[in-house]
Amino acid sequence: MSVLKDKLGKKIEEWRPRTTKLLKDYGDVKVGEVTISQVIGGARGIKSLTTDISYLDPFEGIRFRGFTIPEVMEKLPKVPGSEMPYVEGFFYLLLTGEVPGEKEALEVAEEFKKRQHVPEYVFNMLRQLPPESHPMAMFSAAIVAMQSESVFVKEYDAGLNKMEFWGPTYEDGLNLLAKLPAIAAFIYRLKYKNGDIIKADPKLDMGGNFAHMMGIKKPYDDVARMYFILHSDHESGNVSAHTGHLVASALSDVYYSISAMIDGLAGPLHGLANQEVLRWLQGVMEEMKGKIPSEEEMKKFVWDTLNSGQVIPGFGHAVLRKTDPRYTSQREFCLKHLPDYPLFKYVDVLYKVTPPILLEQGKAKNPWPNVDAQSGVIQWYYGLTEYDFYTVLFGVGRALGVVANIIWDRALGYPIERPKSITTAMMEEIAGIKK
Ligand SMILES: CC(C)(COP(=O)(O)OP(=O)(O)OC[C@H]1O[C@@H](n2cnc3c(N)ncnc32)[C@H](O)[C@@H]1OP(=O)(O)O)[C@@H](O)C(=O)NCCC(=O)NCCS
Repeated sequence: MSVLKDKLGKKIEEWRPRTTKLLKDYGDVKVGEVTISQVIGGARGIKSLTTDISYLDPFEGIRFRGFTIPEVMEKLPKVPGSEMPYVEGFFYLLLTGEVPGEKEALEVAEEFKKRQHVPEYVFNMLRQLPPESHPMAMFSAAIVAMQSESVFVKEYDAGLNKMEFWGPTYEDGLNLLAKLPAIAAFIYRLKYKNGDIIKADPKLDMGGNFAHMMGIKKPYDDVARMYFILHSDHESGNVSAHTGHLVASALSDVYYSISAMIDGLAGPLHGLANQEVLRWLQGVMEEMKGKIPSEEEMKKFVWDTLNSGQVIPGFGHAVLRKTDPRYTSQREFCLKHLPDYPLFKYVDVLYKVTPPILLEQGKAKNPWPNVDAQSGVIQWYYGLTEYDFYTVLFGVGRALGVVANIIWDRALGYPIERPKSITTAMMEEIAGIKK
């Protein structure tokens, strides 16, 4: 058994009694109350999910296994010659809750390398799709196309004890994660680089190999590592993570679950917002004929967008109530590597003027920038100008967190998800509205 799987097995054995005790002895203890506005309003803020992989504090932002983003970046072992940690080491942290040493990170990297070969039929299928297919649709299709590879399905069909579900789920999860960078890079090169595919380099780590297969030079390998880590998880209630968990709760395998997760991520209010940001900024750039707008000029663009009934992409959040630390991390990267890049300057001005305007308008509960406000600019700077592709990068990262969650869902025996719905008439009655 691999070091990671062995370690995880021990953690699971230790953890199971906690969940069992809560359920058996404290199952009737109330966690919260639910209001009509929450029922109509997308279940916002209802505490009805559980995960130990990450927690989102509205004012502090995300913590992965208890660590803030700066702590994660500082504590995890770095790839030699790079500023960023091994993505594989980060996955070890997500899965086990322990910070790996370099030895453990390298062992996970080896595990990924053993599993990275993508079956040829996936590439053939992608080549058959219409050229106008969105990269997210291609990505989702490629993942579900591999469903017949599921180890979980084979073992389940042969008769598998519930306590053992996590083992083959772990195999499926690692098999899939190891293949995602090659599939993503293939989609990019097929769609935008005339199908000129670059083969994987078995010497490289996940982030390094991805940059190599994309055909983008250093320090894009660090951009990839940073991007995958920052986008990996944001607790369980966001659309992509929740979709992955929901589909997996029916005991659908990791391939079905992650393909569905990608579909949720493809929406403009979720993962697609990073390309919306860039589209919006490019529009401003065109009108300004490339000149950096003054704060007054930028204010006008922001108000025009709001007055036409549209949102300012990259600002606001369903849970967060301050500047997203994932934004801050990327801003620091920009300040170090591309401080004078015009598009970064645009983002900088936008950052200064937008929050006060959103506050003045008084609608958005959070006027501060989110993860998407900055990320497209970094990609553009390194030559990845095809912004339809950006959400695929998000998807590779998000899969790390969702796979870790699904493995733990299986380990702790979480049941099929089934909230209850009520009718409008029932709510009117609860509210005491007289007909
Ligand atoms: C992220 C987002 C979908 C959260 O939605 P939410 O939880 O419903 O947000 P709120 O509760 O603050 O929304 C209240 C109102 O403020 C508006 N609002 C929120 N963010 C806004 C923004 N960035 N620009 C303009 N208006 C905004 C909403 O559209 C809503 O208006 P309505 O009452 O007319 O429907 C929303 O902030 C948004 O659309 N942001 C822009 C897209 C984006 O950056 N998405 C990436 C998220 S990581």
